[in-house]
Amino acid sequence: MEYSAKVLEHFATPHNVGKMDDADGVGEVGNAKCGDIMKMYIKVKDDIITDVKFNTYGCASAIATSSMATDMIKGKPISEAMKLTNKAVVEALDGLPAVKIHCSVLAEEAIKAAIKDYYERQNIPFDENMFKEDTCHYCYKEH
Ligand code: FES
Repeated sequence: MEYSAKVLEHFATPHNVGKMDDADGVGEVGNAKCGDIMKMYIKVKDDIITDVKFNTYGCASAIATSSMATDMIKGKPISEAMKLTNKAVVEALDGLPAVKIHCSVLAEEAIKAAIKDYYERQNIPFDENMFKEDTCHYCYKEH
């Protein structure tokens, strides 16, 4: 399997790995295809994601996509993080092998789950449709 240099780099030294004891939102999601699990923690101030950490039992591609995805939402408003797709993350990593695309869905879903948890904890009203199960933005199939 061919991995891009960026994937290998993010896998070898992933960014934003760990736990957060004082997180404002925590999301945990599982991958239906492989059974792997990802936990995402966010810290929010004035609608900005000031810090983000992830923990995963997923594979190298799950680690690389989470590392890249967390970099992409750190310091950004929640509204922008909500728009981050697994497709954008895969492209930022210069691609993933086709059989590994499903791994990139974990990061996107975990970020959304953490934002939903934040909204619920803060009693912020939100539209449930924003969080409904999504198909992969890369190939438009269920993973
Ligand atoms: Fe499960 Fe990659 S094989 S996340």
